[in-house]
Amino acid sequence: MTNKPRPVYLNGEWRDAETARVSVFDRGYLFGDGVYEVIPAFAGRLFGLDEHMARLSRSLAAIGITEPMGRDEWKAVFDRLLAGIDAPDAAIYLQVTRGAPAKRDHAWPGSEVPAGVMATVSPIGSIAGGARVITLPDARWARCDIKSINLLPNTMARQQALEKGCDEAVLVRDGLVMEGAATNLFAVIGDRLVTAPTGPSLLAGITRGLLLDLVRREQLVEAEESFITESALREADEVFLTSSTKDLWPVVEIDGQPVGSGAHAGRAGPITRQLDQHFQALKHPQGSSR
Ligand code: PDD
Repeated sequence: MTNKPRPVYLNGEWRDAETARVSVFDRGYLFGDGVYEVIPAFAGRLFGLDEHMARLSRSLAAIGITEPMGRDEWKAVFDRLLAGIDAPDAAIYLQVTRGAPAKRDHAWPGSEVPAGVMATVSPIGSIAGGARVITLPDARWARCDIKSINLLPNTMARQQALEKGCDEAVLVRDGLVMEGAATNLFAVIGDRLVTAPTGPSLLAGITRGLLLDLVRREQLVEAEESFITESALREADEVFLTSSTKDLWPVVEIDGQPVGSGAHAGRAGPITRQLDQHFQALKHPQGSSR
């Protein structure tokens, strides 16, 4: 990537990352009152766009923000962002907040206050090696299905993982594994691929959904959506994380213990590797390179 300034779309105008400014009264800034999406583009092509836009609509509806613009307008913004970045693989970050009324007040402003809309783009780097994770009690709220910009518990969990020399925190609620701080989690248990069912206690990850569809369509392995107990996680044959910027990320260590046994202990397992190959083909149809 060159040092070209990063483009930012902000409330109907184009800026670069150095000059873009939001109001101190923006409710995203004051209250975390907003939602976001991270949409990847591989080899310049947006991936899972329909699914990301549908989730954005669900998040906006769940917190009562009117859609600030239509699909075509969003798409025009994304295309211009992608044209402004040199990296082959990039992630669009967008957020919509409940706008910037003149006064701080917990009560929502009226419809005369327009939503705050921001979108930018960053390169997606490649991931080297497997993930080492720690387990932590899930300290988040009861609506983790909403892709809220309130990410304090997620950032604290990730920081704890980093301070232990690990990459990600796996969040456990009542003895059940929900997801990672910024990833969904899958385990291979015997001959089944298992991941937590969607619902209020975790984010319906787009990568998760696309992978489940792929696995079922191509009958790669039996897939089951059910909660994994913390003890079953520790016994799992293989574990991996998914997200829009990390694809399938093998977990090699949980709380200092290697994942799996035998030749694959502490390494990406065979099913994870096979699923990743299929997923890469989905990302790069017609054999386009990464
Ligand atoms: N995070 N769970 C949580 C809590 C997440 O924040 C994310 C994504 C996922 C995976 O969702 P998806 O496959 O749609 O990316 C699961 C994004 C990438 C982020 O906050 O940067």
